[in-house]
Amino acid sequence: MKRIITYGTFDVLHYGHINFLKRAKALGDYLIVGLSTDEFNKIKKKESYYTYIQRKMILEACRYVDLVIPESNWEQKRNDIKKYEADVFVMGDDWRGKFDSLSDLCDVIYLKRTPDISTTKIKLDL
Ligand code: CTP
Repeated sequence: MKRIITYGTFDVLHYGHINFLKRAKALGDYLIVGLSTDEFNKIKKKESYYTYIQRKMILEACRYVDLVIPESNWEQKRNDIKKYEADVFVMGDDWRGKFDSLSDLCDVIYLKRTPDISTTKIKLDL
């Protein structure tokens, strides 16, 4: 069983997220999403429209997602990769190069972002 792990806020879930999660899942068999908590979002100076509980509920209803875990700090990734025995760490290419230091633990892959859609854009447009 090949396990994939990724992280993000996934607020106001949109087709760019789904496209990402679909391709992330296709890299293996089991997809774990580290979902940023409301407290961690504050640290990142990012405020989500939906709460952690609501974002988690929505992600868990997505067929590509097998497990949602909380992301509460920048440092936990190495521990999570070991704890959940992840074979692949994947992020969108807006993060290209940022997590290459994890490559001693697992494969690190950056997927091309879907153009012209983001939570920020949706919020601005509405
Ligand atoms: N993502 C993607 N294509 C998009 C938007 C997001 O592939 N058009 C990916 C990101 O690269 C990341 C994951 O989805 O790996 C979660 O992204 P997140 O930052 O939560 O979504 P954004 O829509 O980019 O949110 P924001 O505008 O708040 O930054």
